[in-house]
Amino acid sequence: MDMSLAVKETKELQQEVRKLLKQRNAVMLAHNYQRDEIQEIADLGGDSLALAQQAADTESDTILFCGVHFMAESAAILAPKKTVLLPRLEAGCPMADMITADKLRQRKKEIGSDVPIVTYVNSSAEVKAESDICCTSANALAVVNSLPQDKVFFTPDMNLAKYIQRHTDKKVDYWKGFCPTHHLLTANTIMEMKQQHHNAKVVAHPECQPEVLDIADHITSTSGMYKYCKSEAAQKFIIATEDGILYRLRKENPEKHFYIATVEMICPNMKVTTLEDVYDALVDIKHVITVPDKIREKAKRALDRMLAVPRDQ
Ligand code: 13P
Ligand code: SF4
Repeated sequence: MDMSLAVKETKELQQEVRKLLKQRNAVMLAHNYQRDEIQEIADLGGDSLALAQQAADTESDTILFCGVHFMAESAAILAPKKTVLLPRLEAGCPMADMITADKLRQRKKEIGSDVPIVTYVNSSAEVKAESDICCTSANALAVVNSLPQDKVFFTPDMNLAKYIQRHTDKKVDYWKGFCPTHHLLTANTIMEMKQQHHNAKVVAHPECQPEVLDIADHITSTSGMYKYCKSEAAQKFIIATEDGILYRLRKENPEKHFYIATVEMICPNMKVTTLEDVYDALVDIKHVITVPDKIREKAKRALDRMLAVPRDQ
C-alpha cells in the first residue's frame, strides 16, 4: 500500500477510536510495550503499576486495556463496577502461565504459613488470590521490605526474585518462572553492544538474567526507564527490555540515541493487539474481562496491600 495512504488510514482509525472512547465514556490504557500507533492515542501509557493505579481510580464507565490478559484482569479486580475490555483475548503472558493456583497451593503446604507469598502482578487472578501481597517491577523491593517477616516466597519470576535478594536483608525463595522475552538476553550481547556504542548507558528491566543486571548502569521498571533516560546527561542508551519502549523514549528525547539490546526482544503477546482490534473492541464491546467474586475479593486484598506501598522507582 502507498505509505501516505497507510498513514492516513491509521490517523483516521485513531480518530474513530478517540470518538468511540468519548461516546462510551471509556478510558484507554496502554502498556509501554504496545504498538506505537496505540500508545500514541492512549489516555495513559505506563508500566503495570501506573496502569493498575489508574484502573483503581478511574471515573470512566469502561476501561479499554491495551496490554496483556493479567493487566486487564487486575483492572477488573480493582474496578469491579467498570466494564474492562481486552481487545485480543489471546494476549497472554507466558511467565504468568508458568504457575497455577493448584501448584502454588501445593508449594504453600511445603513452605508453611509463616512465610508470606509475594506475587508479581504478571500472574493470574487465581494465583493472586493465593498470595499475601502483589508487586510490580516498580515496587518489588519496597513491597518485600514492607513485610514484617524476614523470609518471603516470590512468584513467578525468578530473575526479579534474584534481583530483590541482592538488595534486601530478607531471605527470598522463589518459583522458577521467567519471561521468555527478557530471559533470552545474555551479558555477551550487551558487551557487544557496548563495543558498538561507546559510552552508552545500559538500562535493564529486572526480568533480565542476573548476568545482564550485573553489567547494567541502571535497573528499573519500564516507566522508570523514561525517568532515568530523561534525567541522565548521557546521549546514548542500550535498552534491555521489550522494543515497544522505544516509541516514547525517542519521542521524549529526540536528541538522544536509543539502541535495543537485541532485535529479538519483542513480546508477541504485547504486539498481537492492532489498532483495528482496538476499534473493534469499542464497537462490539469485547472482550469483557471478569473475575468470579470469590477469587476477586481475595486477589483484591493482595493488590490493595501492594497499592498501599509507595513505589521505589
Ligand atoms: P513493567 O511493570 O515494568 O511495565 O513490566 C511489565 C512487563 O510485563 C515486563 O515484561
Ligand atoms: Fe509477559 Fe514477558 Fe511479555 Fe512482559 S514481556 S508480558 S513478562 S511475556
